[in-house]
Amino acid sequence: MARTILILFALSFLVFACIGKASTHSSLQEGQRLYVVHCSSCHGTSADGKGPASASLAEPPRDIIQLREEGKLNKISLVRSILDGLPGTGMPPYADSVSVEEADWIAEYLLNMNLAEN
Ligand code: HEC
Repeated sequence: MARTILILFALSFLVFACIGKASTHSSLQEGQRLYVVHCSSCHGTSADGKGPASASLAEPPRDIIQLREEGKLNKISLVRSILDGLPGTGMPPYADSVSVEEADWIAEYLLNMNLAEN
């Protein structure tokens, strides 16, 4: 009996692990969609900082993927930059346009973005 319960428990854990994975996948897609809508004009679709609007900025954006590879970005710093912007630079705040959860998805997308796909 105890064994059956254990197996059932393990099975339900597996099911939930799969559901969790599926939702991560769709939040990454949503993060990508939001990134393209709000960020790519300056940062470029591959986040290299060469979006069409970057040329008009006094200080063009740096390559986000390079910053990520250098270990200079994490989830918290990204969400904060997105919501509050970076005062003194051309990076605007998004607290009025995206929710904290959406900022989290964008951050997650940037942390997982695969350069080879772009
Ligand atoms: C109007 C142009 C513009 C738009 C739109 C824009 N940014 Fe920026 N961003 C900048 C500039 C300019 C900087 C400052 C230079 C730098 O740090 O690379 C910057 C900096 C950053 C940085 C690196 C600095 C840090 O410490 O976090 C990140 C990450 C970033 N932006 C993410 C985003 C995201 C995500 C969006 C969309 C929600 C976005 N940006 C929209 C111009 C823009």
